[in-house]
Amino acid sequence: MNINEALSEKRALIDRALNHYLPAKEKYPQNIHSAMRYSVFAGGKRIRPLLALLTAEIFTSDWKKALPAACALELIHTYSLIHDDLPAMDDDDYRRGRLSSHKVFGEGIAILAGDALLTMAFELLTDQNNKYSSFDNSYWQEVDCQTKLNVIFEIAGSAGVKGMVGGQTADLNTEGKCISKETLKYIDTHKTGALIVASVRAGALIAATTVQELETITAYGHLLGQAFQIVDDLLDVEGDEEKMGKATGADAKRNKATFVSLYGIAETKKARDRLYSEAIKKLEGFGERGSRLKEFTGFIFYRDF
Ligand code: IPE
Ligand code: IPE
Ligand code: MG
Ligand code: MG
Ligand code: MG
Repeated sequence: MNINEALSEKRALIDRALNHYLPAKEKYPQNIHSAMRYSVFAGGKRIRPLLALLTAEIFTSDWKKALPAACALELIHTYSLIHDDLPAMDDDDYRRGRLSSHKVFGEGIAILAGDALLTMAFELLTDQNNKYSSFDNSYWQEVDCQTKLNVIFEIAGSAGVKGMVGGQTADLNTEGKCISKETLKYIDTHKTGALIVASVRAGALIAATTVQELETITAYGHLLGQAFQIVDDLLDVEGDEEKMGKATGADAKRNKATFVSLYGIAETKKARDRLYSEAIKKLEGFGERGSRLKEFTGFIFYRDF
């Protein structure tokens, strides 16, 4: 199976699992369930769940054990996007190729849909009755309780004020201001990097790696995580709105401090290339087993959407 087939197969699995986990649209109160599904199934790239699954796959043939955690990460990421687009934050009208949640459902329901996705992620990870976890032989129930706790702790930390929420706060605090390189690094590694690091670490923890392997994966995650926001900032300047499904030029419009605004385009590309070769180097030690994650890393760094 080539990389594209492997990614499509995993994306389809993630989508089927998410569809299984999310409440039906018809269920009362319908608008919140519609809003949750509207954003989850709007055609996101599924980068975080794919990272969790591909990392687990390096170390175990039982990588499907990571499916519930992979889906939890996508639910949390989707919540962060819904809130990120609200008028009180980035005030963006388009996301994933369609109108933002608040444009369709109103701000109140968009806020609640985000809250519901975030809390559902943790319901899914702590489910003892296999209501969620029995899907498609994902065997979450076979992951030992200590590992589950470690994964939940990891994901909660990355989503909260020590991670994404902290980064989003610094992003809002610094709008329209001149900021230091250290502050920009804090923003990038927290608002975006933290969830990326948690994605690869969750995959590694579930696959029960050695301490050394976990360290290598973590170092890889940090490089990838920082680069992910740098590439997003670059696409905001150079990308195509149609392809990306969200507005370009949004950062300049809101006077956001980004890698591009601080360093310029040429330096941003240099930083991306440097982070790419460092990230790939981290995977080298895994040999052939790491080849899919390596290819996917190339896609993430050099994507055009
Ligand atoms: C966009 O993330 C927001 C950032 C954290 C930079 P993605 O580029 O992964 O968005 P989707 O999930 O594909 O919509
Ligand atoms: C968002 O960063 C990071 C999140 C935690 C959602 P951006 O604000 O740059 O993401 P986009 O460009 O709106 O997707
Ligand atoms: Mg933002
Ligand atoms: Mg935004
Ligand atoms: Mg952006």
